[in-house]
Amino acid sequence: MSRADNRSTYSLFYQRIIGTKTLIGQKLFSYKQREIQYIIEVIKVRGNNGLILDLGCSTGQFTRKLASEFGGANVHGADISEKSISRCSRRSSEINYHHIDDEFYSKHGKKYQYVLLSHVLEHQEDPAAMLKEVKGLLREDGALILSVPQERIRGDSALPENLYNLVRLKFENVHQIKHSLETLKLLLSQAQLSIKEHRYIHVFWSERDEPSFTNHSLVVCAEPAQA
Ligand SMILES: C[S@@+](CC[C@H](N)C(=O)[O-])C[C@H]1O[C@@H](n2cnc3c(N)ncnc32)[C@H](O)[C@@H]1O
Repeated sequence: MSRADNRSTYSLFYQRIIGTKTLIGQKLFSYKQREIQYIIEVIKVRGNNGLILDLGCSTGQFTRKLASEFGGANVHGADISEKSISRCSRRSSEINYHHIDDEFYSKHGKKYQYVLLSHVLEHQEDPAAMLKEVKGLLREDGALILSVPQERIRGDSALPENLYNLVRLKFENVHQIKHSLETLKLLLSQAQLSIKEHRYIHVFWSERDEPSFTNHSLVVCAEPAQA
């Protein structure tokens, strides 16, 4: 799928589904809250003296959380959905939002201390190519924080989005690949990145940090591998 095809998939209605799912995951359950809290802790413990990019920011819920923790001027958001980026910019003018067009990676020019790729990699047909592009946005001493769903059957955590696709006769699972710690290790090493820490986020239990049928996601933090 080209980036142009991707843009038609990630419509404003799709983004609203994501926004609602995130709210449910934060307010009704707590797994989305625990996920972003873990990400914030990783950044705090490692230290932060640069810019943070939330890549695939959708409605900007995580971007705003990061901004309230680290300051709006230090946090950027980016997405392939132009409409979503316009809405995010209107809502939070203190945060820099970028639309990812075909020239984004070659022309952007900014380097980040942290890039957050939360629930985006599983949407890619060629995740290795994406990770290579994303690594180009990282400072040498930077880190990539990557979060992927832990699904039983590929796409089961994207049920509303897949039903939405079915209704508009797009017979395509939005989740292209089911990732595990092993597949991520391999993909990241191909992009010259190595995992330094990881954590499983359980749907119900805050203390559980192990592979489980009822996990929400796996979050890893990876650094550029030493030459
Ligand atoms: C499931 S949402 C994740 C939203 C948010 N990051 C979160 O963790 O809740 C996936 C987002 O990734 C965006 N996306 C998909 N492919 C992308 C790509 N190649 N580059 C940047 N964003 C992409 C979509 O537009 C959508 O907003």
